[in-house]
Amino acid sequence: MKLNKLLIGAVSAALLWSTGVAEAETDLKIFLSSQHRPEIWRKVLDQYEAKNPGTKVAIESGGNTSELQAQYLNTVMSAKDSSLDVMILDVIRPAQYAAAGWTTDFAGKDMSAFLPTYAEANTVSGKVVALPAFADAMFLYYRKDLLDKYKIAPPKTWDELVKAAETITKGENDPELQGLSFQGKAIEGAVCTFLLPYWSQGKTLVSDGKLNFDKDAAVKSLSLWKGFVDKGVAKKNIAEVATDDTRKEFQAGKVVFAVNWSYAWNHFQGAESTVSGKVGVARLPAVPGGEQASCLGGWEFGVSAYSTHQDEARKLVNYLSSADVSKFMAVNAALLPTYGSVYSDPEVLKAAPWFADAKAVVETAKARPVTPRYNEVSEVIRTTVNAVLAGATTPEDGAAQMESRLRRILR
Ligand code: GLC
Repeated sequence: MKLNKLLIGAVSAALLWSTGVAEAETDLKIFLSSQHRPEIWRKVLDQYEAKNPGTKVAIESGGNTSELQAQYLNTVMSAKDSSLDVMILDVIRPAQYAAAGWTTDFAGKDMSAFLPTYAEANTVSGKVVALPAFADAMFLYYRKDLLDKYKIAPPKTWDELVKAAETITKGENDPELQGLSFQGKAIEGAVCTFLLPYWSQGKTLVSDGKLNFDKDAAVKSLSLWKGFVDKGVAKKNIAEVATDDTRKEFQAGKVVFAVNWSYAWNHFQGAESTVSGKVGVARLPAVPGGEQASCLGGWEFGVSAYSTHQDEARKLVNYLSSADVSKFMAVNAALLPTYGSVYSDPEVLKAAPWFADAKAVVETAKARPVTPRYNEVSEVIRTTVNAVLAGATTPEDGAAQMESRLRRILR
């Protein structure tokens, strides 16, 4: 009897011990943007959980725009909230988050397999502060069917684009058809709106943290965009147009040319699109005599400094930023790869043939200023672009205000 009791005791102790182990499971939470296919990331996380028994990863998704996500994450991180272990961050934010002490480093991480531009974006003062999730850049989308109909080649300069837009809109005689849609609202995308023609003139805005403002180039950039409105190539209320408005209008067949990020392509091919199979993608045009320039986008994974599971969170991020996952997201979610090698993968090219040309665009795209005070820099640029397009200020006054405000921030 006694022995039996002892045995039962030992067995239940063992059972308790084993349940104890099961209870020691790690629960991680990752913040993902709702606009960037959380349902496909879920599949990747399911695979991760299967390979790592004892780890469960929950998704918190939110914020349909870069601004909304930043607002939310700033609140969470300012409160030193430990509920998020991993956060997806717009490429413009790792420097700010690292400076605020909101992320922890990936010490010793070899970044050489990533596209150099992302290795750079995630390395701040020699430390790897986040790892790439997916790449992005701004592209020129165009109605291939309409360009073919009028025997027009995709424009390489903004002047060619204006001519093409005028010919096509006149020929189509559809009052709802816009020549060009771009982002004029005071949102993050409008920073790129300003920088595209500015960069195209061979100018830089910030180097080594110091302002390098070329007023003449700034006036030309602002005048170019305002000129599109004045010529009727872009619609009058372009100052109200945000990224997803451009995407929706193009998708509804109301736009000949659109400036937008890579996410738009997938929507254009979708079941709700009226332009599926009729869309071309090209490099953004240059100013006359200038170079074709794109704005670098992309998203990164950072580990929260307040996470109580640092090692597990870093392990997860290493997996999520691996070449295998980059390929999976390219094939299944049309997110641009962060590894040069993945662009030439046959399965990727089958799923998204235009990625073959997208690589060179991403590689040569220019980064918005890297500074811990990026939020303020962004605010100055986007509100000025918006004010000029709304007719509230002239390109000359806008450029002058931009310069003095940026000087105060980047002293
Ligand atoms: C895209 C880009 C990101 C950019 C944002 C602006 O998501 O990847 O870098 O800041 O659009 O809306």
